[in-house]
Amino acid sequence: MRRIAVITSGGDAPGMNAAIRGVVRAAIARGAEILGFLHGYRGIIANEAIPLDSKAVGGIITFGGTVLRTARSKEFQTAEGRMQALEVLKENDIEGLVVIGGDGSLTGARTLFEEFGFPVVGIPGSIDNDIAGTDYSVGFDTAVNTALSAIDRVRDTAYSHERVFVIEVMGRRNGFIALEVGLAGGAEAVIIPEVPYSLLEICDNLRKMRQKGKRSSIIVVAEGAARAADIKDFVQKTTGFEARYLVLGHMQRGGSPTAFDRVLGIRLGSHAAHRLLSGFTGEMVGVDGTKLVTHPLSYVLSTERTVDPEKLHLVTAMAV
Ligand code: F6P
Repeated sequence: MRRIAVITSGGDAPGMNAAIRGVVRAAIARGAEILGFLHGYRGIIANEAIPLDSKAVGGIITFGGTVLRTARSKEFQTAEGRMQALEVLKENDIEGLVVIGGDGSLTGARTLFEEFGFPVVGIPGSIDNDIAGTDYSVGFDTAVNTALSAIDRVRDTAYSHERVFVIEVMGRRNGFIALEVGLAGGAEAVIIPEVPYSLLEICDNLRKMRQKGKRSSIIVVAEGAARAADIKDFVQKTTGFEARYLVLGHMQRGGSPTAFDRVLGIRLGSHAAHRLLSGFTGEMVGVDGTKLVTHPLSYVLSTERTVDPEKLHLVTAMAV
């Protein structure tokens, strides 16, 4: 294989640029040519190809977002769209594709591989960290640290005004971010979609803590579990404590990647390029502890990655 391409697709994640750099420089070091398509699958269909050389990825590791831009393509979900994508890949003499993205993007890669036998290797890139087959997805660590610094600031004002603050973080289907920042930020409660919760119980705990002298509290809620505004109203009405809420939203997806995400991106990017150029296909690269691993996309996409319930117990155990 002498000519490959790379895309970023779906929600952007800090560290995607490090992954692009890893793919490009590892491919070039092996004597391969590499192109990027802008805007993920949509850009393949529209033939938005750009040549990538070593210089093109110089200095990008410090930037959040993705220099290749990204999109969620409806067209690629149709058979015609995928046929068109395959034609464009062929026209550009592309023999293999590296896809950096979350579960939707990796599903696209698997489809290219299963429908047409087109060689693909995926890299998990998503702040949600909900992709099986890897302990970490590129972007999660930065998003957690961004949310954490916001929570630390909110805690100052919550303390001063003796208020309850409900902070909504991203995570449509899971609570990986919520649990991590909740634990790291010393939250009094964390609400996630995977685990049933009782708001009455949470209010009861807040009252008990207040009786013991704790005059402010933080509740972290994953967006997929409930709306922060609703939780705030309920808590205020039930406990009588003054409450406020904050939705962190897309700020969690931006910013310069942490060292962890840069190193992860570079390692996974380089590994993905080597695997693809060595003839491996239909797989995703990831990390198991500190080790690089690969898993078939069929396994990755049919396996649910679950939060560690021990972390949730720890949140409760620490809230006294
Ligand atoms: O999957 C990443 C993610 O940031 C989710 O946490 C969030 O729910 C979603 O993307 C937001 O998507 P959009 O950018 O399309 O609003």
